[in-house]
Amino acid sequence: MIKKVGIIGFGTVGSGVYETLLNKRTKINQLINGDFVVPVVLVKNLHKTRDVPEETEVIDQFDQLSSRSDLDAVIEASPDSYTAYPYVKTLLKNGTTVVTANKELMANHGEELLQLAAENQCRLFFEAAVAGGIPILTSIRHTLKTNDIEKIEGIVNGTSNFILTKMRDEGAAFNRALKEAQEKGYAEAIPDKDIDGWDAYFKTVILSHWIFGTSPTWLTDKPSGIRGIDVRDLLLASEFNGRIKHVASIERDETKIEATVRPKLVLSGHSLYGVEGVNNGIHVKGSIVGSLLFQGAGAGKFPTASAVIEDLINHWTDTSEETPLSGIEFEQTRLNIQNVRT
Ligand code: HSE
Repeated sequence: MIKKVGIIGFGTVGSGVYETLLNKRTKINQLINGDFVVPVVLVKNLHKTRDVPEETEVIDQFDQLSSRSDLDAVIEASPDSYTAYPYVKTLLKNGTTVVTANKELMANHGEELLQLAAENQCRLFFEAAVAGGIPILTSIRHTLKTNDIEKIEGIVNGTSNFILTKMRDEGAAFNRALKEAQEKGYAEAIPDKDIDGWDAYFKTVILSHWIFGTSPTWLTDKPSGIRGIDVRDLLLASEFNGRIKHVASIERDETKIEATVRPKLVLSGHSLYGVEGVNNGIHVKGSIVGSLLFQGAGAGKFPTASAVIEDLINHWTDTSEETPLSGIEFEQTRLNIQNVRT
């Protein structure tokens, strides 16, 4: 049987997924023990030239995709959450499994969408929504099941880390470094979300739900980004043997989960000090294992495509869990801890 996957959006992520699917066909066919096809790609502008073989129809109307009953999954790679939300909702209602890289969508609507997927016997995958190519959600769920996660501290916005590194190492002006991040396909369609901390905020919300089943308590009214930082701040940090990094942090104790997203001075020797350029780094502290650092490309065409495609293959080979813990499970853990103490 030939598997069929549709793609929504053909920007950095959508085209990266498409190219990689075709380039890795032999490997994928071995994994799924069959063959697959991408029969349909939904784009905004039909007049742009796109290099796709005949097996793929390029369309510009969502109905042409959602009315198909032959798709085994749809990869959602639209530029923002506003566009993605109605599409993903309709697909899940139709019982079609969706793989998305959209963190704003998952942070704002994840609970509702996962509920819809459960009601309609389909699935919603989103590994690519947090830390680009790093398989952080899957790793935590599959390899840190017995550990209680006590702390997560990470650089989860590749654009901000790229800009800070360029400014410090090359003395690049903020705007020039941002422009380069956009040209390289790291930044969001609206890059304010990267540089004002919102992208990292969305990822922190997803991590908190994934691990603890609930949103954290935020210690500040809103996230802080890197917009106000200039080269002099970065050089001053170097004089103290430190670096300014944009850090998201979640800490949990018996009664609360608290989070912040803000620039932070990290000194040499800190686990995030050496996480440079577009890389993300996530320090996870587990109750048994201690400290782990997950590090790798946090943004960009192929790292993101990697995470999306691994989700798709996990779906087709039925080897992944896609749901966060429910808040009830966290409540139970909390009660258990309190019970042990009394
Ligand atoms: N704009 C995001 C970043 C893309 O720079 O991290 C990956 O989520």
